[in-house]
Amino acid sequence: MERTFVMVKPDGVQRGLVGEVISRLERKGLKIVGLKMMWIQEELAMEHYAEHAEKPFFQSLVDYITSGPVVAMVVEGKDAVKVVRTLVGATNPVEASPGTIRGDFGLDIGRNVVHASDSLKSAEREISLFFDAEELIDYSKSG
Ligand code: CMP
Repeated sequence: MERTFVMVKPDGVQRGLVGEVISRLERKGLKIVGLKMMWIQEELAMEHYAEHAEKPFFQSLVDYITSGPVVAMVVEGKDAVKVVRTLVGATNPVEASPGTIRGDFGLDIGRNVVHASDSLKSAEREISLFFDAEELIDYSKSG
């Protein structure tokens, strides 16, 4: 069982796509084990996107992700990192296949509806940035 980090970005929240994103993840058979709505502060945004710090779009990325509320999630399931990336589609919505979240709902690379961890290592890092361990649900203990 694997866990990954998913975030509905400000454009996804403003366009009322939170339910759509969660529904697609759930219908695939993935489990939501952590969920919160939040307004990201600049410090967390810069840390989350640290790997892009040298990119020309870094400041606009930070400005955008802090421009409105987001919905942060931890999603669990078999090969969750890869499965979620497949459901989400290519980073650039123009290139994302129809049937994927970005392929169905976006056109702008900056406003691409969702973020999903690109590797298990990134998932672990991003989950710990956004969630405390006690905020995550352990379903193995449920009846
Ligand atoms: P995300 O999956 O959140 O990870 C990094 C983000 O940077 C990516 O989605 C895009 O929204 C954004 N991004 C990547 N490339 C560009 C670009 N060339 N111009 C603007 N934003 C970009």
